[in-house]
Amino acid sequence: MSTHKHYTGLIERYRDRLPVSASTRIISLNEGNTPMIQLQNIPRLIGKDVDIYVKFEGLNPTGSFKDRGMTMAVTKAVEDGSQAIICASTGNTSAAAAAYAARAGIKAFVLIPDGKIAQGKLAQTLMYGAEIIQINGNFDRGMALVKEVAEQAPVTIVNSINPFRIDGQKTAAFEIVDDLGSAPDYHCLPVGNAGNITAYWKGYTEYATSRVCSTRPVMCGYQAAGAAPFVAGHMIDEPETIATAIRIGHPQSWDFAWAAQKESGGWFDKFADEQILAAQKMLSQYEGIFCEPASATSLAGALQDIGSGKIPEGSKIVCTLTGNGLKDPDTAIAQCSAAHPVTIEASLDAVKRAILDCL
Ligand code: F0G
Repeated sequence: MSTHKHYTGLIERYRDRLPVSASTRIISLNEGNTPMIQLQNIPRLIGKDVDIYVKFEGLNPTGSFKDRGMTMAVTKAVEDGSQAIICASTGNTSAAAAAYAARAGIKAFVLIPDGKIAQGKLAQTLMYGAEIIQINGNFDRGMALVKEVAEQAPVTIVNSINPFRIDGQKTAAFEIVDDLGSAPDYHCLPVGNAGNITAYWKGYTEYATSRVCSTRPVMCGYQAAGAAPFVAGHMIDEPETIATAIRIGHPQSWDFAWAAQKESGGWFDKFADEQILAAQKMLSQYEGIFCEPASATSLAGALQDIGSGKIPEGSKIVCTLTGNGLKDPDTAIAQCSAAHPVTIEASLDAVKRAILDCL
């Protein structure tokens, strides 16, 4: 008999660390098991002796880390007999909720800020067949509405205030430790609603408690300058950034994120949209890794803090790349407007000339 084991997702892989039983019907799209890619050119470019790995969560089934939380949240919703799930979203949670609801055969309602979610995310959510409710308000308003509605209608909230979301997402920390053989020294990630920093810290802490690893990383949470409540120290009412995924002013996991920062000896910082886009482009052009703008905030932060010495040379650093660059084609194309493709005559001569002009 073959001993080959087909990968069937993170709940199966980490079932002894997740709240499922032998009889639980698992709703999965084989999420997780995402690549840890060591950056080769950027450390050389900045002239620093650091090991930077990116955890490319954009390679999950719906293109973001939300799939980790959603496999758990939808599995538990179905186990509890729920027929419908609901979330507010800046785009990725809605795509993941829609996909896992389709897989489970239940309904998904998603509240999204009108005109403020990236095209790829809208396309996915439409295709997976969710009921899309666009509101003329931002994510924070949508979140408040979802909490109110869920008290009066038979729907399960699958935002990260649902603790099963955090349990699913903590598996990213397990994968990192399993891959590296130890915890990194620093873990850099973008912070919006703050569910993910909460989840990583929970994952590292559980592994350290079980002695799978002997240390936990310093947690570095990076935000967009126009949406940086953790840097301000208070909630923000009108968050604004081109990184629409993290256009959030009232993060739900406020206390948990502060606990992660304090217990790990970490910090929060903020970056202008231009810095975020520059990091996104740098990663694409020097490493061949295309993430969405919000995700590049992790690298923008890491590069700044490596540059200043706050993250010392010799460190092992992991940056989470939360979502795939294909999610937001408009922002990518607008950023490359100077290099827009020109159309030439379809002849050998013209093509040869075009190539020689560039060499
Ligand atoms: N990066 C991306 C690509 C995201 O979509 C999000 C959050 C974050 C980072 C921030 O993670 O909220 O756990 O601190 N997106 C949510 C959504 C809000 O609705 O898709 P967080």
